[in-house]
Amino acid sequence: MTLIDALNWRYATKRMNGTKVEKEKLHNILEATRLSVSSLGLQPYSVIVVGNDELKRQIQPIAFNQPQITEASHLLIFAAWDEVTEERFDEFAQDTAQQRGLPVETVKEQIAGYKKNILSRPAEVNHQWAARQAYIALGTAVAAAALEKVDATPMEGFNGEALDELLGLKEKGLKSYAMLTLGYRDESNDWLVNQKKVRRPKEKLFVELV
Ligand SMILES: Cc1cc2nc3c(=O)[nH]c(=O)nc-3n(C[C@H](O)[C@H](O)[C@H](O)COP(=O)(O)O)c2cc1C
Repeated sequence: MTLIDALNWRYATKRMNGTKVEKEKLHNILEATRLSVSSLGLQPYSVIVVGNDELKRQIQPIAFNQPQITEASHLLIFAAWDEVTEERFDEFAQDTAQQRGLPVETVKEQIAGYKKNILSRPAEVNHQWAARQAYIALGTAVAAAALEKVDATPMEGFNGEALDELLGLKEKGLKSYAMLTLGYRDESNDWLVNQKKVRRPKEKLFVELV
Protein backbone atom coordinates (compact mmCIF):
# COMPACT_ATOMS: atom_id res chain seq x y z
CA MET A 1 0.00 0.00 0.00
CA THR A 2 1.36 3.43 -0.92
CA LEU A 3 1.15 6.35 1.48
CA ILE A 4 -1.56 7.91 -0.75
CA ASP A 5 -3.61 4.67 -0.61
CA ALA A 6 -3.21 4.58 3.16
CA LEU A 7 -4.28 8.22 3.57
CA ASN A 8 -7.34 7.59 1.39
CA TRP A 9 -8.20 4.47 3.42
CA ARG A 10 -8.00 6.15 6.80
CA TYR A 11 -10.63 8.42 8.29
CA ALA A 12 -11.25 9.96 11.71
CA THR A 13 -12.96 6.88 13.08
CA LYS A 14 -15.92 7.70 15.34
CA ARG A 15 -16.72 4.14 16.44
CA MET A 16 -14.23 1.36 17.10
CA ASN A 17 -14.92 -2.30 17.84
CA GLY A 18 -12.69 -2.91 20.86
CA THR A 19 -10.22 -5.20 19.05
CA LYS A 20 -6.69 -4.86 20.40
CA VAL A 21 -3.96 -3.61 18.08
CA GLU A 22 -1.28 -6.26 17.55
CA LYS A 23 1.98 -5.67 19.44
CA GLU A 24 4.09 -5.37 16.30
CA LYS A 25 1.75 -2.85 14.67
CA LEU A 26 1.71 -0.77 17.85
CA HIS A 27 5.48 -0.95 17.99
CA ASN A 28 5.74 0.27 14.37
CA ILE A 29 3.37 3.19 14.98
CA LEU A 30 5.28 4.23 18.10
CA GLU A 31 8.63 3.87 16.34
CA ALA A 32 7.45 6.06 13.44
CA THR A 33 6.24 8.60 16.01
CA ARG A 34 9.66 8.51 17.69
CA LEU A 35 11.29 9.14 14.30
CA SER A 36 9.13 12.20 13.65
CA VAL A 37 10.91 15.41 12.70
CA SER A 38 11.13 18.33 15.11
CA SER A 39 12.81 21.71 15.18
CA LEU A 40 16.46 21.26 16.22
CA GLY A 41 15.63 17.58 16.75
CA LEU A 42 14.73 18.47 20.32
CA GLN A 43 11.35 16.65 20.42
CA PRO A 44 10.09 18.91 23.23
CA TYR A 45 7.14 16.71 24.18
CA SER A 46 6.21 13.26 25.47
CA VAL A 47 3.75 10.77 24.08
CA ILE A 48 1.76 8.97 26.78
CA VAL A 49 0.57 5.52 25.75
CA VAL A 50 -2.64 4.40 27.46
CA GLY A 51 -3.71 0.78 27.04
CA ASN A 52 -5.45 0.34 30.37
CA ASP A 53 -9.23 -0.04 30.05
CA GLU A 54 -10.04 1.54 33.41
CA LEU A 55 -7.92 4.58 32.61
CA LYS A 56 -9.65 4.93 29.23
CA ARG A 57 -13.01 4.84 31.07
CA GLN A 58 -11.80 7.66 33.32
CA ILE A 59 -10.62 9.70 30.33
CA GLN A 60 -13.86 9.36 28.36
CA PRO A 61 -15.95 11.95 30.32
CA ILE A 62 -13.04 14.39 30.05
CA ALA A 63 -13.32 14.00 26.26
CA PHE A 64 -17.03 14.79 25.86
CA ASN A 65 -17.86 11.07 26.17
CA GLN A 66 -16.59 10.35 22.68
CA PRO A 67 -17.16 6.57 22.27
CA GLN A 68 -13.92 5.86 20.40
CA ILE A 69 -11.97 6.51 23.64
CA THR A 70 -13.14 3.31 25.34
CA GLU A 71 -13.67 1.38 22.09
CA ALA A 72 -10.05 2.00 21.08
CA SER A 73 -7.25 -0.38 21.84
CA HIS A 74 -4.81 2.36 22.85
CA LEU A 75 -4.73 6.12 23.24
CA LEU A 76 -1.67 8.19 22.50
CA ILE A 77 -1.58 11.52 24.27
CA PHE A 78 0.70 14.20 22.85
CA ALA A 79 1.89 16.46 25.66
CA ALA A 80 4.28 19.36 25.17
CA TRP A 81 7.00 20.45 27.60
CA ASP A 82 5.58 23.19 29.80
CA GLU A 83 8.94 24.96 29.66
CA VAL A 84 12.04 24.59 27.55
CA THR A 85 14.81 24.66 30.16
CA GLU A 86 18.59 24.49 30.32
CA GLU A 87 18.27 21.03 31.94
CA ARG A 88 16.14 19.73 29.09
CA PHE A 89 18.66 21.04 26.54
CA ASP A 90 21.45 19.34 28.49
CA GLU A 91 19.59 16.03 28.46
CA PHE A 92 19.24 16.40 24.68
CA ALA A 93 23.00 17.01 24.49
CA GLN A 94 23.64 13.87 26.57
CA ASP A 95 21.39 11.73 24.34
CA THR A 96 22.95 13.11 21.17
CA ALA A 97 26.47 12.52 22.49
CA GLN A 98 25.65 8.97 23.47
CA GLN A 99 23.89 8.08 20.21
CA ARG A 100 26.59 9.65 18.02
CA GLY A 101 29.50 8.44 20.15
CA LEU A 102 30.75 11.98 20.76
CA PRO A 103 32.00 13.72 23.91
CA VAL A 104 29.11 15.60 25.51
CA GLU A 105 31.21 18.78 25.59
CA THR A 106 31.51 18.65 21.78
CA VAL A 107 27.73 18.40 21.41
CA LYS A 108 27.19 21.18 23.95
CA GLU A 109 29.47 23.41 21.87
CA GLN A 110 27.56 22.47 18.70
CA ILE A 111 24.20 23.42 20.20
CA ALA A 112 25.34 26.40 22.31
CA GLY A 113 24.17 28.98 19.75
CA TYR A 114 20.65 27.78 19.32
CA LYS A 115 20.28 26.90 23.00
CA LYS A 116 21.10 30.54 23.87
CA ASN A 117 18.71 31.78 21.21
CA ILE A 118 15.79 29.57 22.34
CA LEU A 119 16.32 30.19 26.06
CA SER A 120 16.32 33.96 25.50
CA ARG A 121 12.72 33.82 24.23
CA PRO A 122 9.69 34.20 26.54
CA ALA A 123 8.68 30.90 28.20
CA GLU A 124 5.20 30.98 26.60
CA VAL A 125 6.67 31.38 23.10
CA ASN A 126 8.81 28.29 23.73
CA HIS A 127 5.86 26.35 25.13
CA GLN A 128 3.76 27.10 22.03
CA TRP A 129 6.73 26.13 19.87
CA ALA A 130 6.96 22.83 21.79
CA ALA A 131 3.25 22.21 21.19
CA ARG A 132 3.71 22.74 17.44
CA GLN A 133 6.43 20.09 17.43
CA ALA A 134 4.07 17.70 19.23
CA TYR A 135 1.50 18.20 16.44
CA ILE A 136 4.07 17.17 13.84
CA ALA A 137 4.49 13.90 15.75
CA LEU A 138 0.71 13.52 15.81
CA GLY A 139 0.66 13.78 12.00
CA THR A 140 3.43 11.22 11.69
CA ALA A 141 1.52 8.84 13.98
CA VAL A 142 -1.68 9.24 11.91
CA ALA A 143 0.16 8.34 8.71
CA ALA A 144 2.01 5.45 10.37
CA ALA A 145 -1.23 3.98 11.72
CA ALA A 146 -2.80 4.16 8.25
CA LEU A 147 0.16 2.30 6.72
CA GLU A 148 -0.33 -0.41 9.38
CA LYS A 149 -4.07 -0.50 8.53
CA VAL A 150 -4.84 0.55 12.07
CA ASP A 151 -7.66 3.05 12.49
CA ALA A 152 -6.87 6.25 14.32
CA THR A 153 -8.73 9.38 15.38
CA PRO A 154 -6.75 12.53 16.04
CA MET A 155 -8.57 14.42 18.79
CA GLU A 156 -8.46 17.81 20.42
CA GLY A 157 -11.95 17.45 21.84
CA PHE A 158 -11.06 17.07 25.50
CA ASN A 159 -10.48 19.19 28.57
CA GLY A 160 -6.71 19.46 28.69
CA GLU A 161 -6.54 20.70 32.27
CA ALA A 162 -8.69 17.83 33.56
CA LEU A 163 -6.66 15.29 31.60
CA ASP A 164 -3.38 16.72 32.89
CA GLU A 165 -4.75 16.48 36.41
CA LEU A 166 -5.90 12.86 35.97
CA LEU A 167 -2.58 11.74 34.52
CA GLY A 168 -0.37 13.89 36.76
CA LEU A 169 1.16 15.57 33.72
CA LYS A 170 1.81 18.91 35.43
CA GLU A 171 4.18 17.20 37.85
CA LYS A 172 6.00 15.76 34.84
CA GLY A 173 6.37 19.24 33.30
CA LEU A 174 3.91 18.43 30.50
CA LYS A 175 0.68 19.86 29.08
CA SER A 176 -1.55 17.74 26.86
CA TYR A 177 -2.61 19.06 23.44
CA ALA A 178 -3.90 16.20 21.33
CA MET A 179 -4.83 12.54 21.48
CA LEU A 180 -4.83 9.73 18.98
CA THR A 181 -7.05 6.71 19.43
CA LEU A 182 -5.76 3.50 17.86
CA GLY A 183 -8.01 0.55 17.07
CA TYR A 184 -10.30 -0.90 14.46
CA ARG A 185 -13.39 0.64 12.89
CA ASP A 186 -16.87 -0.61 13.81
CA GLU A 187 -18.32 -0.47 10.30
CA SER A 188 -21.88 -1.25 11.33
CA ASN A 189 -22.11 1.62 13.83
CA ASP A 190 -19.89 4.34 12.40
CA TRP A 191 -21.88 6.94 10.41
CA LEU A 192 -18.68 8.26 8.86
CA VAL A 193 -17.29 5.02 7.46
CA ASN A 194 -18.74 5.34 3.95
CA GLN A 195 -18.74 9.13 3.64
CA LYS A 196 -16.62 10.57 0.87
CA LYS A 197 -13.39 12.14 2.08
CA VAL A 198 -13.49 15.92 1.73
CA ARG A 199 -10.36 17.93 1.13
CA ARG A 200 -9.68 21.37 -0.35
CA PRO A 201 -9.12 21.11 -4.11
CA LYS A 202 -5.49 21.41 -5.09
CA GLU A 203 -6.13 24.66 -6.99
CA LYS A 204 -7.25 26.19 -3.69
CA LEU A 205 -4.77 24.54 -1.34
CA PHE A 206 -1.60 25.04 -3.33
CA VAL A 207 -0.38 28.43 -4.36
CA GLU A 208 1.95 27.79 -7.22
CA LEU A 209 4.39 30.57 -7.92
CA VAL A 210 5.95 30.02 -11.31
C1 LIG B 1 -5.88 18.32 15.76
C2 LIG B 1 -7.13 17.55 15.43
C3 LIG B 1 -8.17 17.48 16.34
C4 LIG B 1 -9.31 16.70 16.08
N1 LIG B 1 -10.25 16.51 17.07
C5 LIG B 1 -11.23 15.57 16.87
C6 LIG B 1 -12.06 15.14 17.94
O1 LIG B 1 -11.96 15.60 19.07
N2 LIG B 1 -12.99 14.18 17.68
C7 LIG B 1 -13.12 13.62 16.45
O2 LIG B 1 -13.97 12.73 16.29
N3 LIG B 1 -12.34 14.00 15.41
C8 LIG B 1 -11.39 14.94 15.59
N4 LIG B 1 -10.55 15.31 14.57
C9 LIG B 1 -10.74 14.68 13.24
C10 LIG B 1 -11.05 15.68 12.12
O3 LIG B 1 -12.35 16.17 12.24
C11 LIG B 1 -10.81 14.95 10.79
O4 LIG B 1 -9.47 14.54 10.72
C12 LIG B 1 -11.15 15.86 9.59
O5 LIG B 1 -12.50 16.18 9.55
C13 LIG B 1 -10.74 15.18 8.28
O6 LIG B 1 -11.42 13.97 8.11
P1 LIG B 1 -10.72 12.54 8.01
O7 LIG B 1 -9.67 12.49 9.09
O8 LIG B 1 -11.83 11.56 8.23
O9 LIG B 1 -10.09 12.43 6.65
C14 LIG B 1 -9.43 16.08 14.81
C15 LIG B 1 -8.39 16.19 13.89
C16 LIG B 1 -7.25 16.89 14.18
C17 LIG B 1 -6.11 16.91 13.19
